[in-house]
Amino acid sequence: MVLYFFLIIPFVSGVFGEVRYSIPEEMKQGSVIGNLARDLGLDITELGKRKARVVAEGSKQYCELSTETGSLLVSERMDREELCAQTAVCVVQFQLLLENPLKVYSLILEVQDINDNSPVFTNGQIELELVESTILGRRFPLESARDPDMGTNTIKHYRLSQNDHFVLEMNKQVNANAYPELVLKKALDRETQSDYYLTISGIDGGNPLRSGTASIHIHVLDANDNVPVFSQRIYKAFVAENSPPGTLVTKINATDLDDGVYGEVTYSFSHVSDKTRGVVEIDGVTGEVRVIGLMDYEDVNVHELDVQAKDGGGQSSHCKLIIDVIDLNDNSPVISVKSASSSVSEDSSPGTMVALLNVYDLDTGSSGRVTCHITDNVPFRLLSEVKNYFMLVTDDILDRETHAAFNITITAVDSGSPPLFSSKVIPITVSDVNDNAPVFSQELYTVNIPENRPQGTSVIRVTAEDKDFGSNAKIHYSLQLKSDPAATSFLSINSETGDIFTSHPFDYETASHFQVVVSACDMGNPPLCSTCTVRVFVSDQNDNAPVILYPVQSSSFIAEDRVPLAAPKGYLVTKVIAVDADAGHNAWLSYRIIKATEPELFSVGLHCGEIRTLRPFYEDDEVKQTLEVLVEDNGPESLSATATVSIALGDSLPVVDELSDFGEDESAPSNSNEDLVFYLIVALASVSGLLLVLISSVVYVKLCRRSFYRGGASNLPVFPPTYGGPPHYSDVSRWGTLDDDSRYNSFMTTGSWRGDFRFSTGGSVGSGGGVGGGSGIGIIDYDTMTKRSLPPLKNDSLVRLTTSSAASLKPKPRGRLSVPRKV
Ligand SMILES: *[C@@H]1O[C@H](CO)[C@@H](O)[C@H](O)[C@H]1NC(C)=O
Ligand SMILES: *[C@@H]1O[C@H](CO)[C@@H](O)[C@H](O)[C@H]1NC(C)=O
Repeated sequence: MVLYFFLIIPFVSGVFGEVRYSIPEEMKQGSVIGNLARDLGLDITELGKRKARVVAEGSKQYCELSTETGSLLVSERMDREELCAQTAVCVVQFQLLLENPLKVYSLILEVQDINDNSPVFTNGQIELELVESTILGRRFPLESARDPDMGTNTIKHYRLSQNDHFVLEMNKQVNANAYPELVLKKALDRETQSDYYLTISGIDGGNPLRSGTASIHIHVLDANDNVPVFSQRIYKAFVAENSPPGTLVTKINATDLDDGVYGEVTYSFSHVSDKTRGVVEIDGVTGEVRVIGLMDYEDVNVHELDVQAKDGGGQSSHCKLIIDVIDLNDNSPVISVKSASSSVSEDSSPGTMVALLNVYDLDTGSSGRVTCHITDNVPFRLLSEVKNYFMLVTDDILDRETHAAFNITITAVDSGSPPLFSSKVIPITVSDVNDNAPVFSQELYTVNIPENRPQGTSVIRVTAEDKDFGSNAKIHYSLQLKSDPAATSFLSINSETGDIFTSHPFDYETASHFQVVVSACDMGNPPLCSTCTVRVFVSDQNDNAPVILYPVQSSSFIAEDRVPLAAPKGYLVTKVIAVDADAGHNAWLSYRIIKATEPELFSVGLHCGEIRTLRPFYEDDEVKQTLEVLVEDNGPESLSATATVSIALGDSLPVVDELSDFGEDESAPSNSNEDLVFYLIVALASVSGLLLVLISSVVYVKLCRRSFYRGGASNLPVFPPTYGGPPHYSDVSRWGTLDDDSRYNSFMTTGSWRGDFRFSTGGSVGSGGGVGGGSGIGIIDYDTMTKRSLPPLKNDSLVRLTTSSAASLKPKPRGRLSVPRKV
């Protein structure tokens, strides 16, 4: 530290004992201000003794006296600025006191200024706000710096940091402190540089120089000289359709370089088409575009909007927003029936169109690709020849009787993910065609009807069914006339119900069985018909009384039968022959003598009607004998007839031997027996021969039938009439199929005199023995009928036929054959 010693001038004033010193401020403690003893001419040794001391006037003691050297020393820091502030001359007064004797010396210290203070800006941070449009040359006064030092030590000049826009100029107004001013020299642009940071320095004139600085912050304020600028000219956004309200579509970003309200951009739609209105909205502040309504691709697939951005100063600009709606599979396919015939005829050929459908989907892409299919297992299929058009055609033969109606479900599926589908049911009825004939429940109806039932008796009901529908299934029954006019006349039919009635009472004896053909026709166009056979068997009733054929009845006595007087006991006198037109039990006749001239003389065979003698005749027996024979049938209410037999006994008549072998043979001569044996052998041999011939012919016939069966009736064997008549005259032919249990096949007639075999030749009245079975009487017609209506005879029938024919060929006692002699 350098001490500056000012020239200490011992200033001896006129006043006694006054010393004046001039010292720089801020001297170090202990620094010597001056030698007071010498300057005042005092003895140093005296100082101590006289208790010399320096007293200040104020509270502060800046100096002290060194009693050893007599020097005045700085005891405390002296700051001129503190002691005297801004007074030009700074003086501090002291007194030096001496005691013994008291002596006061005045001490004056003049404190000199030194440059110990730097210039200071009270506000070290200067803030300035300038509008960027400020005109050049505009001055902005700045605060001046302060320096407490005096004179040259105070502020001398200011300096501004380096910059392009501003300079500093001093304002030297009269009677005022000079202060610096900031002058704008170059136009400002906030958008280029909005803030300038400068420093201003105040520099004093001391030596060395001291300076103080302040920083200046110049904030350039905005002028609305910019329009909002969009980050893109065209915004493109993609939004899935059906996005819920609130979905962010895009964010519009426009920037305005201006500051404050001039840079505050608000967004709005400047042009919205009608279709877009209500679909999206824009947030005026953030520029966010959001969905608010229904975004439907099928309605509008692209939204085009004009967006305006406007700043607070009213400047605006525009951009375009294009929103592409992304199609979603939100539409089910639509099936629309363009035409459909509700019914299709069952005889339609495959490929007949039933319905035409249009199938479409409002979606696009794969969501709009539609495939179509129908229910399985139906005789229909879909055919598509034009895009989106499907024809429903028949694929098979239809049959209303199997399937009268169909519900065809058509399902359309699009290819979206997940796929949507819809379906439609097309009801189709199959209309009827008369393709089914009526079908009888039975092909053959068999019915038994007792004879003599009144006209209109119900016989049977035939029923037929037709699977068709309506009039095609309505059945009309009728008797087929041409099948057999005679039989048809027996019956009538209810054409609606199929009930068959008798047209008049039947007579078993006229026709025991017949058949008619019933046809059932539907009402279709053309009608279809089918037939069935009704076979009617008339069952017999006992409505015919026996008829006496022999002897011929007359009112007067005619001795038809003569008996030799010598006739032995058991002699066959005659035979009552009666027939009954009925059949079976009703025709089973029994004979009884109810009245006789000589009761014990004759007997009648109960079933054969043979009248035999009970004893030999006596002389006195009456020549004319009359018998009344009651012939009764075996019906439930038996009918009867009475035969009157007249017998004449005659002397001259020879006794016929053959007739007696039946009775007691013991009376016959032995040689006649030998003759008989011979005859028997001859007859047996011839019969055996005939039998052989017959058997071989039967075998031949069988073979012929087998090989020539299809040749027709001409191949059937024809037996010689002598063998008992045509074969079909037998019972077998009469009954056709004799298996029928209700037939009485064993009681045809018992018109034989010995009952040992039956006559089987139904029609043998004229051709056989003349007195054959009576059962054929009155039914001669019958053969022609059976020939037509009955099937050819079976082989077993033929065998039976032939055996019965053979039976009729057995050797018959000549006498027996010739018994019914006419007298
Ligand atoms: C706007 O765009 C500018 C420039 O691309 C970007 O700096 C700013 O962050 C965007 N503002 C918004 C709100 O996205
Ligand atoms: C078709 O559908 C209708 C209505 O559901 C029904 O009455 C009818 O019986 C159905 N037909 C067939 C053949 O399934």
